[in-house]
Formats: sequence, C-alpha cells, structure tokens
Amino acid sequence: MHQQQQQQQQCSPRTISLSLLLLLLLLLVNPNPTKSQLPGTWQLLVPNAGIASMHTAVTHYGTVLLLDRTDIGASKISLTDNRCRRDSADKSLQTDCSAHSVIIDVATAAVRPLTILTDTWCSSAQFTANGTLLHTGGDFDGNRKLRYFVPCPEPGACDWVESSDQSLKAGRWYATNQLLPDGRTIVVGGRDSFTLEFVPPSPGDELVTFPFLSSTRDMQMDNLYPYVHLLPDGNLFVFANRDSILYDYKRNAVLRKFPAIPGGPRNYPSGGSSVLLPLSAADGFTAVEVLICGGSQFGAFLNPEAKIPALDTCGRLAVSDPSPRWKMETMPFKRNMGDMVLLPSRDVLIINGAQAGSQGFGLSDIPCLNPVLYKPAGPDGLRFMVLNPSSIPRMYHSTANLLPDARVLIAGSNTHYYYTFTGSFPTELRVETFSPEYLSEGLASLRPTIIGSPVVLFYGLEFTVTVTVPLPVTGTLEVSLVSAPFTTHSYSQGQRLVHLTSTTPVSIGDRTYTITGTGPPTGNLAPQAYYMLFVVNQGIPSTAVWVQVRE
Ligand SMILES: *[C@@H]1O[C@H](CO)[C@@H](O)[C@H](O)[C@H]1NC(C)=O
Repeated sequence: MHQQQQQQQQCSPRTISLSLLLLLLLLLVNPNPTKSQLPGTWQLLVPNAGIASMHTAVTHYGTVLLLDRTDIGASKISLTDNRCRRDSADKSLQTDCSAHSVIIDVATAAVRPLTILTDTWCSSAQFTANGTLLHTGGDFDGNRKLRYFVPCPEPGACDWVESSDQSLKAGRWYATNQLLPDGRTIVVGGRDSFTLEFVPPSPGDELVTFPFLSSTRDMQMDNLYPYVHLLPDGNLFVFANRDSILYDYKRNAVLRKFPAIPGGPRNYPSGGSSVLLPLSAADGFTAVEVLICGGSQFGAFLNPEAKIPALDTCGRLAVSDPSPRWKMETMPFKRNMGDMVLLPSRDVLIINGAQAGSQGFGLSDIPCLNPVLYKPAGPDGLRFMVLNPSSIPRMYHSTANLLPDARVLIAGSNTHYYYTFTGSFPTELRVETFSPEYLSEGLASLRPTIIGSPVVLFYGLEFTVTVTVPLPVTGTLEVSLVSAPFTTHSYSQGQRLVHLTSTTPVSIGDRTYTITGTGPPTGNLAPQAYYMLFVVNQGIPSTAVWVQVRE
C-alpha cells in the first residue's frame, strides 16, 4: 500500500498527461471501459420478435420457439395467409390475425409466426422422447388443453396442433411438467389445482390428489410453478414456497420431507429459480444437489407499493445426503425473477430479474442487469462472479435458454397485462444472446469442434466422438448432455446436465482426438429425449450436436 502511494507520487506531470491521453483514446474506442472489463458479451439477435416471450424452448433443430398468450389484443407480428383466430369469448379481440407464438431461426435471425388458438397464459411443457413439445394448460379456453409442436428443419414449415379429443384431467394454470423415463410427462399443480396427473395417462392413471401443494399455499399463493426435479434414484424432488419433499410418483408416496429453506418464499409470485446441479459420472452420479436462488420476502406481492427488496440468498441442498441441510450463500445482488441456466462448463448462469417487488403485473422494480455466474465446484465464499450487464431490463415474463452454440438466448419481459410500449419498463420485443466468457476470442484455441458423433445414444453403451482442438489437449475432454427445457416464470422445467463417463482423449493426429463415452446408465439420469452433446476442454465448450437418448 505504502509502496503504491510512493509510486503514484513519483508520477511526473508528463506521464500523467500521457496516461490521460491514453485514457481519452480508450474512451473514444470504447465509451464504457468498466463495463467491458466484466466477463461476457451481449448481442442483439432479433430487433423485433413481434411477441414478448413468456415461454421459450429450443427445439432439436436449434430453432427457438417463443410463446406468449392470447387474449391481450394484437401482437406486433401478423399471421400469414389470412389465418385468424376467431373467439367470441375473447375479452380483447374476437378476430385476431396476429401471432402469439413465433419460431426463430438462430442462424438467420428470421422470425416466423405460428398459430395458437387457445390461451397459453402461464402454461407448461416438456419435449417428449421423439422431440415433440407436449404443451399443457393455460388460462380460460386453454386451461385443460393439450397442444403439440413437432419441430421441423425448416422453421415455419411446422406449426402448433391443439388436440380436440384429449384434455387434461384438471385445469392447469402455473403448473410444472417433468418428462419421465417411461415417456410420460408428470404435470404438477397449477392455480387452485392441488393435484398431479400423467400425460399421456397409462391405463389406470387417475388424477392424483397432492396435499403437499395445499399445505404450501399461503395468502399470496407461493406454491405455483413448483420446482420439480427428476433424481437419479427415480424419485422426484418437489419444492413449493419454502418446503420440499422426496416424492415417489410410482407409488404416490412422500418418502421424505426436507427442512424448510431459510429466508422468504421462492416460487410464484416470489420469483426464485431452481436447478438440479450437474450430475457427474466422476462421482458415479452419487452427489445430487438442488440449488435455489433468489425470491422475494413474504408480503412483497401483497404490498407492491412498498417495493420490498428481493432476496439475495441461494440455498443448496444435497438431497443425496442422509440428513441434508440447506447451505446458504449470498449472491452479489438481490434478485427475483432471475433465470438459472446450466452451462456446458457445469457452472450456473443467473440472469434477468429485478431487485425489488415480486412477480405479477407492474409489481417489480429495479432491474437486475448484471448476470452472475455460480461455480458449484468453487471454494466456499468464492463461487459467484459478476458478469457484464445488459442494457435491457428483463423482468416479469422474460426467459433465458441455452443454445447449442453455448450462447444463452434472452427473450421477453412484459410487466404489463397488455402490450404497453410507453412508460416505465415497456413491453420488450427484442431478443438478445449472452455469450459467456468461454466463447471469448482469447479462448478460441482451446475450443473443441465436434467432427464426428453418434446421432443416437443408448443407455450404458459406448459411443465415439471425434473432435479437433487448435491447441494440444493436455488433460481430459468432458462429454456432457444438456436437456432442452421449457422456460417460463424464471424456471426451466426439465433442465438437466449429465456429465458422462469418457476415456482420456486419444490423439489421432492433425489436432484431432477421439473420445469414447458411455451413454447415461439409466433413464432416471436422462429420460429418453433429445439432448445437446457438448465436448468441453478446460471449461471451454464445443458447439453441441443433438443426440437422441434411447432405450
Ligand atoms: C411423438 O410424441 C408425441 C408426444 O408424446 C406423440 O403424441 C406422437 O404420436 C409421437 N410421434 C411419433 C411419430 O411417434
């Protein structure tokens, strides 16, 4: 310290003016040097998607499905071929020729309108084993709807199909879906729906009363969009409000009740988020941990004028421990409505959200513009890293999804009931991407490129991946599968990352390596579906290839 001061005093007027000149030059080149010093970069992908995405999912063609809701009047994108939705019961617009869902081709940034007929407001979904999105519920005429989206290589050549002969057993508005190893999807909860059900139902599957949801409902709800994670032992971790259980869905039995998480409520309308931390072959998939970050103090939803500060804690629970306790950590920012994204580097990106208020129309304030990275394997107290801020607030009804090129797509933000482009926090139609530091130019020489890979992975069977890497590979190359979740209300339903067993890379010359990986041992680790397969070199991921995991 003393030495530093001495050195500063030694600066001659000439060196000072020189450094001032340099600073001025730097400012001319980059008007915001402090901002650029933080890791990560932002790009505007689509200046106007036509809709504010409330729900977002990446298909196994790498196209991105955005979905808002009907019954809010016209969006900013028209349906083609004069297709219109006619609904005499619609409160805003009975003949609506605008689209409320679109699909984006990431490579060209082209946006195509899609046709939604019933209200998808606060709906839920999962991709099924064959890559079809099974989408459920919503409000009004959409409350019990089943909808399907079969992705296709040419975006715009496929569209939503709404079932007229099947429906949910109960209305589902703010429910959570989780794909199961047998191909069914479990649909849990919803507003005033203290039940769960399976889609498609097996013979004998009935509507199941789920008392956990009624016991976790409070005066401001707080049990909506429950966090549901499929665990390697085949049971479900289910979290609502501050409570969580281990649930055997096959026998409809609550096997364990975990301690309540310290701090305030975490689910809707309190706007926390949750991930199942990456599962790893390195420990034989035995360490199973859930991470829940952010949320609001109880009462923030009931007293929006008070703009009550959001929670700044994350809780981490090792559900594989015999008697786990929440380990609490403090984030660099208070945050609700933050999306948590599992990155192929096995870190967690926490992005979007606000620092005060709660979920709900007009109830949030003070956007949290800085993403943070959480490094689960980092030393205690040093796991968070503050990243480069966005200039666009992304609060209520915004989303974040991992793309196969390892960027994160950011869409939506609409704190208003209708599309409102005036006043504070206008409805947001821009779509951005955030590139974590692992995509920076300086790390390009470490980046693997997959040049050979399987299209299908079978449980427990070996497969070979061939990659090129500019610089010689000194250690291991990780092979991981990352699911394509359905993201809405700050929580990605069905998000999981499975780090697979693989051999050390074998050099076959010309900067080319082969790795032998082993498919996930069971469907409880990775239920049958399409996954992004990444090869990761010292934290630097390849672009993914899509593989179908099958029996
Ligand atoms: C794909 O999966 C969906 C949903 O599970 C199902 O309805 C559909 O029949 C399947 N399609 C094919 C071609 O198997």
